[in-house]
Amino acid sequence: MEKIIWSRDLELGIDIIDAQHKRIVDYINDINGAIMSGDRESVYLVMEQLRDYTMDHFAFEEQLLEQSGYTLLDSHKQVHRRFEAKVEAMVTELGNGTDPMGVARRAKNTMKVWLIQHIKHEDQDYLPVVKKTLKKNQNWINSSLKRIFGSATV
Ligand SMILES: [Fe+2]
Repeated sequence: MEKIIWSRDLELGIDIIDAQHKRIVDYINDINGAIMSGDRESVYLVMEQLRDYTMDHFAFEEQLLEQSGYTLLDSHKQVHRRFEAKVEAMVTELGNGTDPMGVARRAKNTMKVWLIQHIKHEDQDYLPVVKKTLKKNQNWINSSLKRIFGSATV
């Protein structure tokens, strides 16, 4: 797989969310790097980092959607939960001794396809309502970031 090159067509135009998506892309590229160099240990580490970071990102995004009164929040949450379950299943496979390179190859393909289509469809859909919220709620954003990520930067 080619590295995912971050480009403007992956941007939503919401800096804080774009920065988080970009970091998820970095993790997917790290999985790719581990495959290319045959580094099995890195696969375990990066898969866990990616799982943890993605869950924090979803938590932040869902709180932002709730704060914004987004009407499709429940179905958006379900899409997130299904993705989390997939990632969790792969992390469990690693824990059970499944060949890490096989899991890594499946993981990077699944995640790449999922993330790009999620950004371009479901995430795109909440833009107008979230942009309105962000304009008037910078304090809320900062306190949410601190609560979920432990700091105001991602
Ligand atoms: Fe999302």
